[in-house]
Amino acid sequence: MEIRLADTIETEEVIELYRLNSWSSAEKPDQLLPALRNSDTLVTARLSGKLIGLGNAISDGSLVVYYPHMLVHPDHKGKGVGRAMMEALQKRYRSFHQQMLTADGNAIGFYRTLGFERAGRTEPMWIYAGNEH
Ligand SMILES: CC(C)(COP(=O)(O)OP(=O)(O)OC[C@H]1O[C@@H](n2cnc3c(N)ncnc32)[C@H](O)[C@@H]1OP(=O)(O)O)[C@@H](O)C(=O)NCCC(=O)NCCS
Repeated sequence: MEIRLADTIETEEVIELYRLNSWSSAEKPDQLLPALRNSDTLVTARLSGKLIGLGNAISDGSLVVYYPHMLVHPDHKGKGVGRAMMEALQKRYRSFHQQMLTADGNAIGFYRTLGFERAGRTEPMWIYAGNEH
């Protein structure tokens, strides 16, 4: 398995990965692909060239980073792919004052393993255009 930063991604492979995880942004390729490519950092995991994982970070470059997307192909979950991608991202942002994300219910344990914790007594708030949460 190969972890790449700033990899070149193709629309079809990205949409397949999002569809397999039932993520609604799979239905918005015209927004999803530019968004991923415009991230502060994009990380991919590939096995013999095939895209099996993807994550991204958006940031002000010095204090705050937000990790919007992290997903692994269903056939390759539970094999350390997510950890490897998150560690590659965190190499860059470890010293930041604030690393944030919104953990889906099923992914809370994964992020805890990687050192994230509930954000004090704060309440996550959003305006969300999807339907999978
Ligand atoms: C969440 C996700 C990215 C994790 O990736 P993964 O490759 O399956 O996870 P890893 O195999 O790298 O696991 C890393 C560690 O987290 C732990 N872990 C993973 N999922 C877990 C879970 N649901 N609950 C508890 N621990 C979990 C693993 O046991 C492992 O621990 P270890 O390294 O100490 O052995 C992946 O399962 C996924 O794509 N899920 C669907 C999309 C999603 O929910 N993304 C997050 C949105 S907020």
